[in-house]
Amino acid sequence: MKPINIAILGCGTVGTGVARLLLENADILKDRVGCDLNLKYVADIDTETDRGIAFAPGVMIPDAAKAIADPEVDIVVETIGGEGIAKQMMLDAIAAGKHVVTANKALLAKHGNAIISAATEKGVDLAYEASVGGCMPIIKTVRESLVGNRISAMTGILNGTCNYILSKITDEGVVFEKALAEAQAKGYAEADPTLDVEGFDAAHKLAILAALAFGMQINFDDVYIEGISRITPMDIEFAAQFGYRIKLLAITKFDGQAVEARVHPTMIPFDNMLSNVNGTLNAISVSGDAVGDILLYGHGAGMMPTASAVVSDIADIARNLASNGAGRVPVLGFQTDKVRAIPV
Ligand code: HSE
Repeated sequence: MKPINIAILGCGTVGTGVARLLLENADILKDRVGCDLNLKYVADIDTETDRGIAFAPGVMIPDAAKAIADPEVDIVVETIGGEGIAKQMMLDAIAAGKHVVTANKALLAKHGNAIISAATEKGVDLAYEASVGGCMPIIKTVRESLVGNRISAMTGILNGTCNYILSKITDEGVVFEKALAEAQAKGYAEADPTLDVEGFDAAHKLAILAALAFGMQINFDDVYIEGISRITPMDIEFAAQFGYRIKLLAITKFDGQAVEARVHPTMIPFDNMLSNVNGTLNAISVSGDAVGDILLYGHGAGMMPTASAVVSDIADIARNLASNGAGRVPVLGFQTDKVRAIPV
């Protein structure tokens, strides 16, 4: 089977993580996908910064257009972020017949219909697991595992930066600015951290989930959004005295007629599981008519957790390509040539 060629556009925190995971776990990915995943290009205007990865010659390039135009590239991974050039790059890649993987929640929340329509028209895949909840597999869960359910509500902690800041203030008495600076230094925050602390990032993710679960694009301007910048240590202390923790919640509901979508700080009782989701962890509960309630939990921000989600999308598309669209299902652990003795 010929290798599947991949181009990553944008080598910041997430792009670097994706490159690292593709290279470090190439062996298991080959086993599980059925062919080599070849990192052909990593395009970034900054080709000088040391990302701690020994790229093969010719892989790191300054020109994304070159990667998009290369007929050998099968999958383009957009990790540029933001609503600027990322949109055009994504549309250019789709127009060139590339399958696209993205983590770009802002773009999907606002222009999801246009981008997905372009991909559908061109007959290419557009995958976006990493756009919501970092490594938490919420997109696949809603799209695949819960496909037979009518979903009525989703409630989650969807911004790792805010959760990190609130946890630091609550548990360690760190001041807001210091906690935010730490989140930025660790690569959790957006390039413009206002998107995090004012609730927009969580709202972007909520809009994507609502569109997926309820089958309609949400008018982003109609989402009620309130961030955490006005929460004071005194608010947190009073909440604790009454048995609550303050979390930034993203909530959406659908009654069959109208969608409700809101993001705001919420007091959560200590005995509710969401109140114990701390640091960069995200969590989301989904209510479906067949399953009742389920809860997912995992790191919602950070280089490798987010890379894990991007790579899962790459692997899905690659597996489809490798099996000529037959969507081969991996039977992990049951490959007869891979039997290992269990040490006693
Ligand atoms: N800034 C985002 C967050 C990154 O803190 O959750 C992951 O989407």
